Order: sequence, then C-alpha cells, then structure tokens
Amino acid sequence: MAILKKTIFILSLIALSCSYVNAKDILDKNTGFVIDTGFELVRANCTACHSSGLVIQNRMNRETWLETIRWMQKTQGLWPLGDSEKAILDYLAKHYSPTATGRRKNLPAHLMPALLTQLN
Ligand code: HEC
Repeated sequence: MAILKKTIFILSLIALSCSYVNAKDILDKNTGFVIDTGFELVRANCTACHSSGLVIQNRMNRETWLETIRWMQKTQGLWPLGDSEKAILDYLAKHYSPTATGRRKNLPAHLMPALLTQLN
C-alpha cells in the first residue's frame, strides 16, 4: 500500500510538471501552431502551399506579416483573405512576432556580474 501511495504521488508530480511546461502555449499536434483565436483560419489558409513550419520559423511584426501576405498574393497565387485577414494578422502578430519568442529579455547591464578584468 505504501508503494502504491508513493507511485501515485510520483505520477502526480510528473503530471503536474508536464502541465506546467504546457501551461503557456498549447500547440496543435499536426501543425505545431499555437492554439488560440485565429488558429483555424491560419491553418486553413496558410498550410495549403507550404508547411506550417515555414510560418512558425519566421518572426515578423504585423506590418511585415502583411507585406509577406501581399507578396504571396502578388507572386505566389495566395487568394484574397477578405474578412479573415485581420484575425490572421492578429494571430500572427501575437504568436510569431519578434517579441513573442517566449524567451526573457537580456538582463540589463547593471544586473550582470562584473567582468573579471574589471575586478583586477
Ligand atoms: C497559394 C500558395 C500559398 C499560400 C496559401 C500561402 N503561402 Fe506562404 N508562401 C508561398 C510560397 C510559394 C512561398 C515561397 C516558398 C519558398 O521560398 O520556398 C511562401 C513563403 C512564405 C513565407 C516565407 C517568406 C520569406 O520571406 O521567406 C512565409 C512566412 C509564409 N509564406 C507565410 C504564409 C502565411 C502566414 C500564409 C497564410 C496567410 C501563407 N504563407 C499562405 C505560397 C503560399
């Protein structure tokens, strides 16, 4: 019985740590896109010609996403996105902008340890 309790305790710890890792962004298993408002539109419109990976690996602000969409519309046969365009841009700018990397900013210089050369 003690072993069973211990096992359940350890399993729940593992479950807890897994849910903590995924707490911020839930990713779609097939595309790797973050599941959030606009995800379905992006999946429907942005994976027909190339993989979702090409979208995910890029970081652009809203204007540059719009330029990329216009470029694909002019040269690659992307169709007009109509009413969906705003929601698609909202989604892309929220999850795939240069600031949405999930990585914290660098520490400010005054919080960094002193360089060894400065100590000597
Ligand atoms: C009609 C086909 C088509 C659709 C639909 C499409 N794209 Fe593209 N896209 C392309 C082609 C072709 C390229 C160039 C691929 C290459 O360089 O190998 C491209 C390239 C890209 C690139 C890379 C641009 C660069 O500068 O390297 C991004 C990012 C991108 N697409 C995002 C999107 C997004 C977001 C959507 C949905 C709104 C979308 N694509 C829908 C055809 C399409």
